Formats: sequence, structure tokens, C-alpha cells
Amino acid sequence: MLPRITGSRSLLLASALVLPTLIASPLLGDDKFTEEAETCLSCHGDKEATKTLADGSTASIYVDVTAFEKSAHEKNVPCSSCHPDHKEYPHPEVVAADPREFQAKFQEACRTCHSQKYNQYQDSVHHRAHLKGDLMAPYCFDCHGSHDVKRPKKTRTGTSATCATCHSEVYAQYEKSVHGKALIDGLNTDAPVCTDCHNSHAIEDPTTLRWRVQSPEVCSKCHSDKQKMAKYGLSTDVLKTYLDDFHGMSAELYGHQKTEPKKLVQVCFDCHGIHDITKTDAANSKVLKANLVQSCRKCHPDASENLPSAWLSHYRPSLEHSPMVYAVRIFYRIFIPFIIGGLILQMALHVFRVVLKR
Ligand code: HEC
Ligand code: HEC
Ligand code: HEC
Ligand code: HEC
Ligand code: HEC
Ligand code: HEC
Ligand code: HEC
Ligand code: HEC
Ligand code: HEC
Repeated sequence: MLPRITGSRSLLLASALVLPTLIASPLLGDDKFTEEAETCLSCHGDKEATKTLADGSTASIYVDVTAFEKSAHEKNVPCSSCHPDHKEYPHPEVVAADPREFQAKFQEACRTCHSQKYNQYQDSVHHRAHLKGDLMAPYCFDCHGSHDVKRPKKTRTGTSATCATCHSEVYAQYEKSVHGKALIDGLNTDAPVCTDCHNSHAIEDPTTLRWRVQSPEVCSKCHSDKQKMAKYGLSTDVLKTYLDDFHGMSAELYGHQKTEPKKLVQVCFDCHGIHDITKTDAANSKVLKANLVQSCRKCHPDASENLPSAWLSHYRPSLEHSPMVYAVRIFYRIFIPFIIGGLILQMALHVFRVVLKR
């Protein structure tokens, strides 16, 4: 099939076939990598080159050489590594219904070299969305680029911004949260970006019960880290005190089981919120006494205003916090050794008497 290039492009293309090097970009050098790229770019370096798709729309087939050269791949990945079927011209025919399906045709491009990431990605919610026919979920190139691949670890803010292109509602909440503000306004790299809680490649469905019972570990990656939390004067007892509570015990128990948990157990985010977590003393904090009962009512619909006091909070009982519990604990601490000591003493006296009587 002849190239369906618009307008006078076909003339240009014809000459390109004969004299590729003449039209090649002067930006490229002269090593082996560029030799191939020059051939390809003799046609694909044309800004106006397009291809007509089945739905009648046109897709650009222009490749920006400047971005290509500056990409994280530098000169290590020639065109044909990602496009092995397009080494020769005329190319095999690629039929696509619309621009998105056209892009999706190249979803395997990264597989050979980044097989580990590729495999992780196969289990993700995003890939599962593709399998269900939702092509809007991201492919590798949506997050990384294809001809202009960037180094993803360079900016932490950039990561959340990438997710925001599709998850704008979540981002709008996150942006205003204590975590988002620390990151975006404070450029604080200790604060979590989307991928710290969700992963980048093996993103799981966060609404399952399994994910829920394991979520306290996600928070405690940072909130149990003494060095990290000292900077903010935040307690690192939060996980331990949560696990000491009945909800925490259940979550931990379910977390260790292989089967899907049966109960909706309360976790950190039921009290604190998810993408809208605030400082605990903020006016709109979900954990203020007056608001906390709302979170209980999600699972205990009849909860009275007093139910939240059933929870000891993150404080370990002391004279200041939960003095009654503290007093009972102290009592047991003295009482139990006293009883056991008494028992041992009694047995010893018996033995002593038996021996003496003989
Ligand atoms: C003579 C011009 C020309 C050369 C040289 C050329 N291409 Fe193409 N390429 C085209 C045209 C025209 C299309 C539009 C689709 C078609 O007609 O096959 C295209 C389409 C493509 C596509 C999109 C998929 C498709 O087939 O529609 C890819 C990918 C591609 N070329 C890669 C390359 C690579 C890699 C090289 C170098 C090894 C290269 N091309 C060399 C003209 C060329
Ligand atoms: C790192 C892998 C990679 C390399 C290297 C690469 N491509 Fe691509 N290319 C892709 C992916 C992925 C797509 C589809 C997604 C997109 O459109 O960005 C694509 C799409 C295309 C298309 C379809 C139109 C378009 O831009 O969407 C053309 C044409 C093309 N590439 C040509 C080239 C040429 C020519 C080179 C070398 C100068 C090259 N590619 C190098 C991965 C690559
Ligand atoms: C021919 C093998 C090859 C292919 C195909 C390939 N890559 Fe790479 N990629 C590499 C190599 C090698 C590096 C390491 C470059 C470096 O760090 O200097 C790399 C680096 C990267 C990095 C930067 C990693 C970092 O540490 O910052 C990203 C992101 C990336 N590739 C994404 C992609 C994507 C997305 C595709 C498909 C569109 C792709 N690669 C296709 C070989 C490949
Ligand atoms: C939803 C967005 C997204 C998708 C889709 C995605 N990545 Fe990534 N990728 C990231 C982010 C964010 C990072 C930054 C480092 C991290 O969190 O692992 C990254 C890191 C990387 C790196 C650098 C790894 C390192 O440890 O330095 C490579 C290589 C890579 N991805 C390849 C791929 C490939 C191949 C695919 C497709 C199979 C893919 N990615 C799909 C977001 C994505
Ligand atoms: C190109 C658009 C796009 C980008 C970029 C993107 N996503 Fe998604 N995401 C989707 C689509 C589409 C779905 C599937 C929607 C559904 O099933 O409800 C999805 C689903 C999800 C889900 C599961 C939602 C649920 O209700 O089960 C999570 C979590 C998620 N994405 C996180 C991320 C993160 C984190 C990033 C950035 C690293 C990201 N996404 C980048 C489009 C995108
Ligand atoms: C501090 C950890 C954390 C961070 C940071 C985070 N998430 Fe979430 N996310 C969660 C939790 C926990 C859930 C599960 C909520 C549930 O069970 O309903 C969730 C649910 C989701 C969902 C599915 C449900 C929904 O609300 O649509 C999407 C999509 C999502 N997150 C995307 C993102 C994106 C995009 C970002 C970055 C802007 C992000 N998340 C940042 C913890 C986090
Ligand atoms: C990547 C590390 C990280 C992860 C993961 C993380 N956080 Fe945080 N969190 C921080 C940092 C850092 C701050 C302090 C920000 C500041 O004060 O500027 C913070 C602040 C908070 C605060 C505000 C405390 C206060 O009163 O000042 C709460 C509440 C909180 N996080 C809860 C959570 C919950 C719940 C999760 C899990 C869903 C979680 N965090 C996951 C790092 C993290
Ligand atoms: C029953 C609701 C509830 C649960 C569950 C819960 N929190 Fe809290 N959290 C609170 C309240 C209320 C406060 C305010 C101080 C207090 O009373 O302990 C707080 C305070 C905090 C603080 C601030 C600590 C400080 O030093 O100021 C952090 C961080 C935090 N929680 C993280 C977590 C994490 C991580 C989890 C899960 C492991 C969790 N919370 C589970 C209600 C809860
Ligand atoms: C996400 C659901 C969920 C939320 C939110 C929740 N709980 Fe529970 N709660 C449970 C489950 C499930 C049990 C039963 C424990 C078990 O068997 O694992 C329970 C048990 C209890 C018990 C023990 C007595 C009983 O009825 O078995 C008390 C007290 C309690 N919750 C108080 C609270 C308080 C206070 C809050 C709000 C701060 C709260 N709960 C929020 C799910 C929840």
C-alpha cells in the first residue's frame, strides 16, 4: 500500500526514499544509532506527516528528534528496538480504529528490555482495565513518554502530577491534604506521593478488603520511622497503639490469612480520611472528638456520641491520658506478681514441711 500522506507530502516522501541523508536532521551525529534514525527521520521528521485512521481521523506520524535525543535512553535505544516490525519500508499495515487504538498498538514496545516492570504491570488495575476494553487506562508510554522518555525519579511532585492527568478529582483532594501540601507547597520529599501508597506498576485495587487490612502497613512505612517523624514531632506509637486495639488486632489477624477477609475492619483511613488527611488539630480534622463518631457510624450505625471514647486513642495509658486504664494496669502489674509470688511461696513452704517431717 502507498503511504497515505496528506497533500504534497507524498512527493517529499518519494524523494526521501531516494535521498534519505539529505533531508536528515542535522542534530544527529554519525554513529550506528543515528544511521538508522536518519533513515526513519527522513520521513518521520516531517512535522506535518500524518496517517489516516479507520474512523477518518488523522494521527501524526512525526517524531520530534530534539526530544528523542534528550530522552533518558539517550542513544542506547534505536527506533527499531521499539519498532522491530518497521525496520523496512513499506511497513506492514497497521490498522487502528482511532488515535487511542493506534497508540495502543505499540504497548509491547518496552517489554523486551524492561521485562520486570512489564510483568509487574500485568497484574495492575490499569492493565486489567485494558483487558475489559477501557483503553483510557495508562500504558507505559502515558506515564513515561515514548520518544521523550524522562527519568521518573527526578521529581517527586512530577509523579503525582502524572497521575493527576487522569485522576483529577483525587488529586484535587490530595493537593489540599497535609501530605499534598507538604509535598507541593513545601517541596518536602518525606511526604507521600500517589505511588508511595499505590505503587507505580503493580497498582492494586485499593477498595478490596485485602488491601484494606494491609493498609496500616502502608502508613506505618513512614509513621513508624523514628528518624523521619522526629522532624515533625509526630508520635511513632500510632501503629502499635492501633494494633493493641480490637480493630487493629482483627486487621492484623486477617492480614496474615491467605483468604479474603470477611469483615470490614476499621483501619487508619476510616478515622483520618484518605486523600484528604489533615493535621489532627485542624478545624476540619476528621479525628476531632465531634467528628470521630461519624466515622464509627459507617460500621456501627447506632453508635452514640460516646462510642469514640471506647477507643484509648494513640496515647499509651498514663496519668494524663486514660488514668483509669492506667490505674488498672498498674494494679495488675503489682497484683499479678504478688499472686504468683504468693503461690510459689506457699508451695515452697509445703515442700519445706514435707521434707522436715521426714
Ligand atoms: C519512506 C518514508 C518512510 C521511512 C523511511 C520510514 N517510514 Fe515509518 N511510516 C511511513 C509512512 C508513510 C507511515 C504511515 C503508515 C503507512 O503508510 O505505512 C509510517 C508509519 C510508521 C509507524 C506507525 C505505524 C504504522 O505502520 O502505521 C511506525 C511505528 C514507523 N513508521 C516507524 C518507522 C521506523 C522505525 C523507520 C525506520 C527504521 C521508518 N518508519 C521509516 C513512512 C516511512
Ligand atoms: C523506547 C521505545 C521507542 C523508540 C526508541 C521509538 N519509538 Fe516510536 N513509538 C513508541 C511507542 C510506545 C509509540 C506509541 C505511543 C505514542 O504515540 O507515543 C510510538 C509511536 C510511533 C509512531 C506513531 C505515531 C506517533 O508518534 O504516535 C511513529 C511513526 C514512530 N513511533 C516512529 C519512531 C521512529 C522514527 C523512531 C526513531 C527515531 C522511534 N519511533 C523510536 C516507542 C518508541
Ligand atoms: C532496547 C532496550 C530498551 C527498550 C526497548 C526500552 N528501554 Fe527503557 N531503558 C533501556 C536502558 C538500557 C535504560 C538505561 C539508560 C540509563 O539509565 O542510562 C533505559 C532506561 C529507561 C528509563 C529511565 C530509568 C531510570 O532509571 O531513570 C525509563 C523510564 C525507561 N527506560 C522507560 C522505557 C519505556 C517506557 C519504554 C517503551 C516505550 C522503554 N523504556 C523501552 C533500554 C530499553
Ligand atoms: C501509571 C503510571 C506508570 C505506568 C503505566 C508505568 N510506569 Fe514505570 N514508573 C512510574 C513511576 C511513577 C516511576 C518512578 C519510580 C517508581 O515509583 O518505581 C516508574 C519507574 C519506571 C522505571 C525506572 C525504574 C527504576 O527503578 O529506576 C522504568 C524502567 C519503568 N518505570 C518502566 C515502565 C514500563 C516498561 C512500563 C509498562 C509496562 C511502565 N513503566 C508503566 C509510573 C508508571
Ligand atoms: C492515562 C490515564 C491514567 C493515568 C495517567 C493514571 N491512571 Fe489510574 N486509572 C485510570 C483508569 C482508566 C482506571 C480504571 C478506572 C476504573 O476501573 O474505575 C484507573 C484505575 C486506577 C486505580 C483503581 C481505582 C479503583 O477504583 O479501583 C488506582 C488506585 C489508580 N488508577 C491509581 C493511579 C496512580 C497512582 C497513577 C499514577 C502513578 C495513575 N493511576 C495514573 C487511568 C489513569
Ligand atoms: C497516604 C496514602 C495515599 C496516597 C498518598 C494516595 N492514595 Fe489513593 N487511596 C489510598 C487508600 C487507602 C485508598 C482506598 C480507599 C477505599 O478503600 O475506599 C485509595 C483509593 C484510591 C483510588 C480509588 C478510589 C477513589 O477514591 O477513586 C484512586 C483512583 C486513587 N486512590 C488514586 C490516587 C492518586 C491519583 C493519588 C495521588 C494524587 C493517590 N491516590 C494518593 C491511599 C492513598
Ligand atoms: C511516604 C511517607 C508517608 C506515608 C506513606 C504516610 N504519611 Fe502521613 N505524614 C507523612 C509526613 C512526612 C507528615 C508530616 C507532614 C507535615 O507536617 O508537613 C505526615 C502527616 C500525617 C498526619 C498529620 C499529623 C499531624 O497532626 O500533624 C496524619 C494524620 C497522617 N500523616 C496520617 C497518615 C495515614 C493515615 C497514612 C496512610 C493512609 C499516612 N499518613 C501515610 C508521611 C507519610
Ligand atoms: C479510631 C480512630 C483512629 C484510628 C483507627 C487511627 N487514628 Fe491516628 N489519630 C486519631 C486521633 C483521635 C488522633 C489525635 C490524637 C489522639 O487522640 O491520639 C490521631 C493522631 C494521629 C497522628 C498524629 C500523632 C501526633 O503525634 O500528633 C498520626 C500520625 C496518626 N494518628 C496516624 C495514624 C495511623 C498511621 C493509623 C493506623 C495505623 C491511625 N492513625 C489509626 C484517630 C485514629
Ligand atoms: C470499617 C468498619 C468499622 C469502623 C469504621 C468502626 N468499627 Fe468498631 N468494629 C468493627 C468490627 C468489624 C468489629 C468487630 C471486631 C471483630 O470481630 O473483629 C468492631 C468492634 C467494635 C467494638 C467492640 C464491641 C463490639 O461491638 O464488638 C467497639 C467498642 C467498637 N468497634 C468501637 C468503634 C468505634 C469507637 C469506632 C469509631 C472511632 C468504630 N468502632 C469504627 C468495624 C468498624
